[in-house]
Amino acid sequence: MNIIKKLNVFQINFRMVVLGDYPVPPGRVILITGGTKGIGLETAKKLARGRAELILTTRNSGVLENGEEQRRFLSEFPIPTKIHILKLDLNSLSAVKKFCSEVKQRFPRLDCIVCNAGTMQKNGGKTADGWEVHFGVNYLAHFQLIQLLSPTLQDSQDPRIILVSSSHLTKGRINFETLKNGEPSRSSRGVTQEYCDSKLMMALWGYQLQKYLNNIKIITVSPGWCRTGLGREHGTPWVILPFIIIPLALFSQSAEEGADSVVYCILKSTLASPVFIKNRKSVPAIQRYLEENDRLGSELWDFSISAIEEHK
Ligand SMILES: NC(=O)c1ccc[n+]([C@@H]2O[C@H](COP(=O)([O-])OP(=O)(O)OC[C@H]3O[C@@H](n4cnc5c(N)ncnc54)[C@H](OP(=O)(O)O)[C@@H]3O)[C@@H](O)[C@H]2O)c1
Repeated sequence: MNIIKKLNVFQINFRMVVLGDYPVPPGRVILITGGTKGIGLETAKKLARGRAELILTTRNSGVLENGEEQRRFLSEFPIPTKIHILKLDLNSLSAVKKFCSEVKQRFPRLDCIVCNAGTMQKNGGKTADGWEVHFGVNYLAHFQLIQLLSPTLQDSQDPRIILVSSSHLTKGRINFETLKNGEPSRSSRGVTQEYCDSKLMMALWGYQLQKYLNNIKIITVSPGWCRTGLGREHGTPWVILPFIIIPLALFSQSAEEGADSVVYCILKSTLASPVFIKNRKSVPAIQRYLEENDRLGSELWDFSISAIEEHK
């Protein structure tokens, strides 16, 4: 175990030396979905060092209520900064709508929205609205959120939308027929197929969104393989666990390191968009793939617009 620890320490030191940091322009208002744990929380902590005003969402009532758990949560932020914790459940489109009305009322201007929240489940089931859960939570709810909140970015000096995707997107497929019925796309081994599908959708959506919002930077990012709570509900059979735990210990990174790429996308001033970022670099092969699938992206856009219209 010692050697594994040493390798991880080496990985962390190596990245920190190579990467360095970017300043956060003071007063930037940044909304992060799923901002109270995992990569979202680490992103928030890094931004807080630069005194950004943060809106973090969660379903966790302990963190939402003004009590001991919230105090413990806020103590993770050593530098005093404005943090607003808001309830958001992406499982329901009406909950997303309610959340967006609250945000619009309380925050006349946003500078950046990070669509970070996500789930990976083995037997995912359906959202409250009947959509396959990865499609509904990871993708469609964020699609609706951006449709409703993008006007609040218009007054920003450097408006950005960050879509947290994954390199697993290359395993993604989109089947509109099964989506229509809220069914899983197909059974799969390893990483849930529907999770990969939803991450492909995030990235294709980013490229379409840029056509509609040409004054806003739309940046899609893969944080890389991180040790977080994601996959907790994946239900991996115990016989397979050793094949996951060893590579996880050797090759995965901390949530803090995963957040580094996300923060880079939020702050790097010279980034042109649309772009797909991993490890602070654009990934030309994935960008080509997304451009080649522009027609699929456009179909997905139309499908998503009808899906959210249905719920009006
Ligand atoms: N970890 C990795 O290796 C990896 C790799 C590539 C991409 N990613 C992506 O990174 C993002 C963050 O994941 P993570 O690794 O940090 O996982 P995590 O620790 O499990 O965090 C997931 C976040 O999503 C939120 N969330 C889940 N379901 C939700 C729902 N129905 N409504 C509202 N919020 C919900 C959770 O908020 P609550 O507080 O409400 O539970 C939590 O903040 C995800 O989009 C994931 O796909 C992760």
